[in-house]
Amino acid sequence: MSQDRQATPRERAVQGFERAFGHAPERLSRAPARVNLIGEHTDYNEGFAMPCAIDRDTVVAAARRDDDVVEVLACDLPAEADVDGGARGRFRTGDAADVSASPQWLRYVQGMVAVLREQGHVVGGATLSIAGNVPQGAGLSSSASLEMAIGHAFSALNGWALPPTTMALAGQRAENVYAGCRCGVLDQLSSSLGVKGHALLMDCRSLEVRPIPMPEDIAVLVVDSKIQRGLVDSEYNLRRQQCEAAAKGLGVKALRDVDDALWSRLGGQLDPVVRRRARHIISDSHRCAGLADALSRGDFAAIAHLMRESHWSMRDDFEITVPAIDALAALMQDVIGDHGGARMTGGGFGGCVIALAPRAMVDEIRVAVERGYRSPDGRAAEVHVCAASDGAGVLA
Ligand code: GLA
Repeated sequence: MSQDRQATPRERAVQGFERAFGHAPERLSRAPARVNLIGEHTDYNEGFAMPCAIDRDTVVAAARRDDDVVEVLACDLPAEADVDGGARGRFRTGDAADVSASPQWLRYVQGMVAVLREQGHVVGGATLSIAGNVPQGAGLSSSASLEMAIGHAFSALNGWALPPTTMALAGQRAENVYAGCRCGVLDQLSSSLGVKGHALLMDCRSLEVRPIPMPEDIAVLVVDSKIQRGLVDSEYNLRRQQCEAAAKGLGVKALRDVDDALWSRLGGQLDPVVRRRARHIISDSHRCAGLADALSRGDFAAIAHLMRESHWSMRDDFEITVPAIDALAALMQDVIGDHGGARMTGGGFGGCVIALAPRAMVDEIRVAVERGYRSPDGRAAEVHVCAASDGAGVLA
């Protein structure tokens, strides 16, 4: 290993395992983070979204135990006083559902165990070590990647397998019920079903996912604004309520069901704020098919147009952006021009701006971001050049 090469998540998970538990792991699983290209907050409205899994992973090294205890080492978290190498957690499989005294990170692990047991799968005791290179708190779904990696670790250890969509739904339930976040299924489906070199056109009602090949020369740039996503939980839940109110006002099960005729007939009767929320969902869901088409044709001008419109819709109608993010997206779009697009991605109120741009422009964009952007508290953005990657699975 050359001196300046950083250890991979796989290496760190295995080394952490061996140091903490004194023997080698039996199995290894991994799951990627995700970035959403377009279709924001559409998932819980049963509309379309278009994410891709990215080459930033959570890896779990695992071995069976003879008892019903799950012992976990989180290599990337600060260690407590008397142990080194990361944070530790421990619970019995039968008590997994009781997360009341657990730190947030352990709730994802317990949540997966609880859900898999509820669904009738054999989940024996296990020793687990977790390591990853997903930027935390940046809105790239480090939690979904943890859930999927944990699910695959237990499936490998206990000798059963789940279809990728079922695994994703288990992760969503773990997050909704045990980790306390009312997210949709976008993050888990992306991590579970990613396809290398492809975006995923996702129907969040049927859960059907169509891989869309990305043009060879396109780079997926994920720019972390370093803006704390403080309001995200309360605002996220408020947006959900507003979307539900809009669906109710329009007399449909979900905003997915609103067509042009219904919108022209009843849209005007909605409360003005609720109407704008609905207009974002309906328009962004439609943009997904447009972006799939533009990517397939390698039509960069159409990509620019759709991503710009999506950002404006999040800014003006859904109101989930913040001024510094608007400025960052505009700065990136200005450099890229009609050669690709930039928009905020994820739940909002901070997090990342994504750009799809020709590889040849990556350095230019990086320099412009370095020169032209600082977060409100004076921090520079972090630029990640990512590749669309395969979904979760067992490595060994
Ligand atoms: C978060 C949620 C997802 C989705 C996005 C917004 O990432 O976890 O379910 O709603 O926000 O598109």
